[in-house]
Amino acid sequence: MSDIVTQLEVLQTKATAALSAASSSAETEAWHAEYLSRKGKLTTILRGLGQLSAEERPVVGQKANVIKGALESALQERQAAISSVEMMATLDTDAVDVTLPGRPQTLGKLHPTTQAMREILAIFGQMGFQTYDAPEVETDDNNFTLLNFPPGHPAREMQDTFFTKNDGVILRTHTSPGQIRAMREFAPEPIRVMLPGKCYRNEDVTTRSEMMFYQVEGLVVGKNITMSDLKGVMLNYGNQMYGNGREIRFRKAYFPFTEPSVEVDVSCSLCNGDGCRVCKQTGWLEISGAGMVHPVVLKNGGYDPAIYSGFAFGMGIERQAMMKRQVDDIRYFYSNDARFLDRV
Ligand code: PHE
Repeated sequence: MSDIVTQLEVLQTKATAALSAASSSAETEAWHAEYLSRKGKLTTILRGLGQLSAEERPVVGQKANVIKGALESALQERQAAISSVEMMATLDTDAVDVTLPGRPQTLGKLHPTTQAMREILAIFGQMGFQTYDAPEVETDDNNFTLLNFPPGHPAREMQDTFFTKNDGVILRTHTSPGQIRAMREFAPEPIRVMLPGKCYRNEDVTTRSEMMFYQVEGLVVGKNITMSDLKGVMLNYGNQMYGNGREIRFRKAYFPFTEPSVEVDVSCSLCNGDGCRVCKQTGWLEISGAGMVHPVVLKNGGYDPAIYSGFAFGMGIERQAMMKRQVDDIRYFYSNDARFLDRV
């Protein structure tokens, strides 16, 4: 009997010492496996109980239970102490410092072309212009013939066209073919539309021209539409886009689809007409080609030119953005340099 009791006492001493040396949950778990589990040292000793006499067995068994109970509560105590230390450590390392400054969010922004397009459409929207979508891939008829460029007409060479493999199908060189589409859809109703979008010309890329660029076309058709209406609309646009009190100047020009044709200038908002780098010392900025819709074009659109008249204008969007935001090279727009896109 005393043999087993001794073994139990030795075990208790060793186990207690080992437990106080355990300093992590992993170690207390290993300690439990070594001493108290079904395959642990205590169980191994208790297997010897079977060899004891009937009187000895309950006495030794009771002693064993007391030791087991003592070890179990010692384990619980140790685990509680360790987990509170571990929790404090976690709180320390995972702590959030609410006094740190926030991380800055980088905001995206609209492309300068999109900004300018939206500003323009908003200004004309106030004047009752609706936006109308027309395709970038056009027929030669809509882009030229129906706009009064007869086949072989030298004016076709004013615009270096990208052709497709399909006969008579091209990339539009301006937004003007949208005039034909809008008129054919709405005739004989009055029209007041804006036609924005991409255009393509097979030109050398320079500070002032890209092969792909944006235009927006304006078209008004109705009864008694006059050149004064065109002038008033352009003046209103110039004032709103480039600052109040702008002067508007019309210079004679030639386009096959308008007669008379003009180019529209606005007095430079940067130098107030005194002359600067942006207006090339002239005091004026060209904002648009324009004119009264040619009778042949009205007829091609389905309107009787004896009853109806109209005006049209077409402007380059990048150009408006360049003048408004002082960008001196159109090539910045589509070269995706974030420094430019951030600034403008
Ligand atoms: N389509 C002409 C161009 O691209 C501009 C324009 C539009 C002129 C409408 C007059 C009327 O140069």
